Amino acid sequence: MADDSGQHEAQVETSGQDTATPSKMAVLEARNAEASLGGGVAAIAKQHARGKLTARERIDALLDPGTFRELDRFVVHDCDDFGMGDKKVPGDGVVTGYGRIDGRLVYLFAQDFTVFGGSLSGAYARKICKIMDMAVKNGAPVLGLNDSGGARIQEGVVSLGGYADIFLRNTLASGVVPQLSAILGPCAGGAVYSPALTDFIVMTEKTAFMFVTGPDVIKAVTHEEVTKAELGGAEVHTSVSGVAHFQVADDLAALALLRELLSYLPNNNLEAPPQVATEDPVDRVVPALDELVPANPNKPYDVKDLVEAVADEGRFLEVQPEYAANIVTGFCRLGGRSVGVIANQPAHLAGVLDSDSSLKGARFVRFCDAFNIPLWVIEDVPGFLPGVAQEHGGIIKHGAKLLFAFCEATVPKVTLISRKAYGGAYCVMNSKHIRADLNFAWPTAEIAVMGAEGAVNIIFRRELAAADDVAGRRSELVADYEGRFANPYRAAELGYIDEVLRPRDTRARLCEAFESLANKRDRNPPKKHGNIPL
Ligand code: HXC
Repeated sequence: MADDSGQHEAQVETSGQDTATPSKMAVLEARNAEASLGGGVAAIAKQHARGKLTARERIDALLDPGTFRELDRFVVHDCDDFGMGDKKVPGDGVVTGYGRIDGRLVYLFAQDFTVFGGSLSGAYARKICKIMDMAVKNGAPVLGLNDSGGARIQEGVVSLGGYADIFLRNTLASGVVPQLSAILGPCAGGAVYSPALTDFIVMTEKTAFMFVTGPDVIKAVTHEEVTKAELGGAEVHTSVSGVAHFQVADDLAALALLRELLSYLPNNNLEAPPQVATEDPVDRVVPALDELVPANPNKPYDVKDLVEAVADEGRFLEVQPEYAANIVTGFCRLGGRSVGVIANQPAHLAGVLDSDSSLKGARFVRFCDAFNIPLWVIEDVPGFLPGVAQEHGGIIKHGAKLLFAFCEATVPKVTLISRKAYGGAYCVMNSKHIRADLNFAWPTAEIAVMGAEGAVNIIFRRELAAADDVAGRRSELVADYEGRFANPYRAAELGYIDEVLRPRDTRARLCEAFESLANKRDRNPPKKHGNIPL
């Protein structure tokens, strides 16, 4: 550990300088040099050997060059227990400040694992709280680069209180400024709850872990044996638990992803997302889309092909690609404007809505709505997933979350029904009835209470039971039902669908639609907050 600051000053004051000014400069330089080293050269080497960058290297890679302004560089902890009085490191294990990404202001903290394992002390928490308060006041995102052993054990309740101070700020800042977390090392105990309260979590593949209690405690309590990776690695949290949103190879990829993600977001809830110049013509016709939906309604296609064919330059940043893949969420631009995409995915479980996909979709919709990002919904859904496991798992309340999220959203909302819009899922997926602004359908759309086979079996049960030629009569009835409902025209006659589009015209029509909705004003009744069915 480095010496405390008093010792440095004493050394420099007696260094033989004639005037006070250079001596004071030298003190500053010495203090700065010490702070830059964090836990010291050996600890930095260990950090690199683990395949991780240091906190300062991460900040350099994240921000526009030369824009970082560090605050509280000389803060130290005030704990005297367990010999900690002799172990003070300037900065105390977290680097905080503000800087620019693509010229836009951001506040950030980077936890320094080389100092007490990045564990959180009272002083450390105060540093994070300070930049969070500044971010909210100045309307700029908070980026957290996490790499921490959790509460600093030597500090006891002071550290727990520090976490709670941060959790409060995370919560109050939610929906005011974007909060993005990169998990770049182990995050145990309290260290996971702050990221969990933020909007998006990026995890590195081999070096990041998140768990409330680690493998040793689990073994003692439940006798389960599990590795850190199996318990809370990036793979698990991006595909099984849904805690994290992105899995990336390493620190540099995580930081690049944060930059990319920010490019779609406004700095705060009172701003529009940045508009980006595009070379891609807004009236570009996409003939391939006419052939995208297979003639056989039971055949899948990849809805991401649709998104990429329509989006500016074919770019789509998918959020949670590995989790609940039956719904696709992510960001693209249309005519240079950020758009949040929520799409049923026929290529996975036929695009059915279940508990996980409802939760995933609902959270994404609420994020976009909080930050003025218009919604583009693509619908091809056979309905909610039937089954005891789903019912007992609370599909009713989870599906209701997605419904609630779409109902309360006041941003521009545009729906495209590419194929199936069946049952309750028709209502939920941003139908006209729940305040969608523009509802388009392709000629391949099928809008009905249920599929023709199921419908006929129910409404003609008695007639079929009495029929001489059951199969023949059933196919007649199915054909009749399909003729009436397996198309978009009944809904279009009622005004539930505003326009039936040629698929090739989708990009042009959507770009125009979002442009026309850019000044949309809508609001919900005054209230403290709604009661989304959690
Ligand atoms: C103080 C800590 C620390 C902690 C690590 N260190 N965690 N010091 N408080 N919480 C120190 C280690 O003593 C060590 O110091 C250095 O950091 C590096 O740690 P290593 O163990 O050598 O690193 P590694 O093998 O990579 O393991 C990292 C780790 C492990 C997985 C994070 O250190 C660990 O399990 N730490 C404890 C995690 C934990 O239980 N935290 C408390 C959670 S309770 P030296 O001097 O040897 O280099 C909590 C409650 C909050 O957070 C609840 C709020 C809701």
